[in-house]
Amino acid sequence: MDKRLQAQILCSIFFLFTIGHSIAQTTVLASTPPMGWSTWNHFHHDISDAVVRAQADAMVSTGMRDAGYVYVNIDGGWEGQRDAAGVLHPNNNFPDMKGLADYIHSKGLKFGLYTGPGPKTCAGAVASYGHEAQDAKMFADWGVDYLKYDLCSFREIMKRDSGGNVQKSDAIMQAAYEKMHRDLLSTGRPIVYSMCQYGWGKVWTWGPQVGGNLWRTTGDISDNYGRMTSIGFREAGLSIYAGPGHWNDPDILEVGNGGMTTDEYRTHMSLWAILAAPLIAGNDLSKMTPETKSILMNREVIAVDQDPLGKQGDRAYATGPLEVWTKPLQGGDVAVGLFNRTSAPANMTLRLADIGWYGSATARDLWSHKSIGVLSHNYTVVVPRHGVVMLRLSKPTP
Ligand code: GAL
Repeated sequence: MDKRLQAQILCSIFFLFTIGHSIAQTTVLASTPPMGWSTWNHFHHDISDAVVRAQADAMVSTGMRDAGYVYVNIDGGWEGQRDAAGVLHPNNNFPDMKGLADYIHSKGLKFGLYTGPGPKTCAGAVASYGHEAQDAKMFADWGVDYLKYDLCSFREIMKRDSGGNVQKSDAIMQAAYEKMHRDLLSTGRPIVYSMCQYGWGKVWTWGPQVGGNLWRTTGDISDNYGRMTSIGFREAGLSIYAGPGHWNDPDILEVGNGGMTTDEYRTHMSLWAILAAPLIAGNDLSKMTPETKSILMNREVIAVDQDPLGKQGDRAYATGPLEVWTKPLQGGDVAVGLFNRTSAPANMTLRLADIGWYGSATARDLWSHKSIGVLSHNYTVVVPRHGVVMLRLSKPTP
């Protein structure tokens, strides 16, 4: 080939690559649901620099990072006092936040932090009211990559300033979330914005407009099957509101914290993956059983959650407490969850026609990691109590 033509082609390829790369960088913060770990569900306020470093170490040594979990999120409990210049200092458990962030980054991980729009967090610590821009700048200087912004005491301000008018109160809340979004943007650092206001005012209908990359859909999860499922299954109907860059958040995972059986934790993980939920582990990563690891690091289930199409799944049909959920995946595959919410094992039948699948399907079981062959109409299987059978369907190769 002529040398000049060759050089021109190379230049064009380089140009397209650079353009593509910069577009990708400016448009796809949280293009798939964020994955990471949070201090909250296991450690609550009992946290320190040493605890967070040890968890970051465990994230790497256990393989969690390589499975996709990258954010190391400090929730409430890091805050100290504001000084006369308005600077918010971490408490004595966190002597060097920038040093901690650098340590986390040096492991190929990202750093998340927590505050709120009110004067106080839910635990009564100092939050960002009146100091939003100053705090945003400090977070960016520290190297924060993810901010959880928790409503807490701002509810009192909404009540005070709205005189009890619900619409006014919602508008005040939305403006507060938008303010921090703008202040984060002004720092120039890409920071995933995690809104936590328990689903108030149907946040999924306005979360993206105020800059939310994810928003909690409910109050707090706890480590039991009843609460976990009441939060997860309540997301039926919300799939239309999620997509790349903006996700419904049914809260931090409880997998590995000990309050549920293996089948119940598999239900938790499967449901969160079908919901395209953020997968933020909430257990002690330095003490994981083989079962916990096999659940949190089930790559086939993670692939459903992280599917690049970015479509949240939804309930396809249910017979009482026997529920069938589906999630469309890139390339025409579909993930299916057969959930048995009763307290005894149950026969469940997947009817391909009822999930809008025409023709036959090859099916793979994502918990046994085995192919189950070609299905033509129905598939009947025993699902354990409080358990799940999760499948991935593909068009058979001709
Ligand atoms: C709650 C929030 C929890 C956790 C906690 C910290 O309001 O929903 O996820 O952040 O505050 O105190």
